[in-house]
Amino acid sequence: MLEDRMISGEQQDTDQEIELSLRPETLKQYIGQDQVKNNLSIFIEAAKMRNEPLDHALLYGPPGLGKTTLASIIANEMGVQFRTTAGPAIERAGDLAAILSSLEPGDVLFIDEIHRLPRSVEEVLYPAMEDFCLDIVVGTGPSARSVRLDLPPFTLVGATTRAGLLSAPLRDRFGVHSRLEYYDTKALCAIVERTAEILSVEIDAAAAVEVARRSRGTPRIANRLLKRVRDIAQVKGETVISKETTQEALEMLQVDAEGLDFIDHKLLKGIMDSFQGGPVGLDTIAATIGEEPQTIEDVYEPFLLQIGYIQRTPRGRVVTPKAYAHFNREVPGS
Ligand code: ADE
Repeated sequence: MLEDRMISGEQQDTDQEIELSLRPETLKQYIGQDQVKNNLSIFIEAAKMRNEPLDHALLYGPPGLGKTTLASIIANEMGVQFRTTAGPAIERAGDLAAILSSLEPGDVLFIDEIHRLPRSVEEVLYPAMEDFCLDIVVGTGPSARSVRLDLPPFTLVGATTRAGLLSAPLRDRFGVHSRLEYYDTKALCAIVERTAEILSVEIDAAAAVEVARRSRGTPRIANRLLKRVRDIAQVKGETVISKETTQEALEMLQVDAEGLDFIDHKLLKGIMDSFQGGPVGLDTIAATIGEEPQTIEDVYEPFLLQIGYIQRTPRGRVVTPKAYAHFNREVPGS
């Protein structure tokens, strides 16, 4: 993740520990995503009544919305172990076979960024998901033969920011498909208040709304902003975080009134300044502003599309009049 690259190893460790302690452990504690939560709670209850593992579940949506958290909640609610890995970490079929054969009955195996699994690994996953078995080739040349190994029944939870990149055979093997949406301000505000309580800081209701409003619909960003706002309030000797301090902190962090940060600004202004608002292709934008095309596509663009600041057309990305208005600029040629 981009934000992980920008902080030192030690800071990252403590941030990750705090991040873990902030995670809700049950569906009841999990705020927002009501439809996904309601569906999952029924599927979990039914699977438990039948004494079966939950069907394999695919969680998809932009980063930071709680896919990993939800997967660990599924394991917790099913009363099983949560085992976690990621697509790029599984390079060979043997790596996956080792993980699968170490599972206990009913375990949840979480594969993050599942769209990045190599094809050869994906093929091992099909019989594992469908029939709970592994087909392993032993020996080489004419003496090679295929051996079938039984696996304990398990639940695969796959997470991806790019459901469209998943191959159809893999996608079709998930019985549950859940799409996570950006959170509304009310849900984010409840998350900010919950996190403040866990961190033992007091935050004014108006300040919590301000953090929520500027978090791009994303709990991970809300929690990160809250921690930085807390730092500034602490240095100022403020016992209850106020709206003024929050606004000051967010300005320092270069987060604007809509929650856009300096990279969003660079992206939008890049298209407005260098391409008269577009259309312009993703790779060209990426090269112009010095960001990875994939980071733009996965992290920045989805929110800008959602709030209607950019549009995707067959000829490339276009900045909308709404975005021009945000920057108090005239739309070219108007
Ligand atoms: N922390 C981060 N995401 C959360 C959520 N959806 N509910 C509660 N706490 C959270």
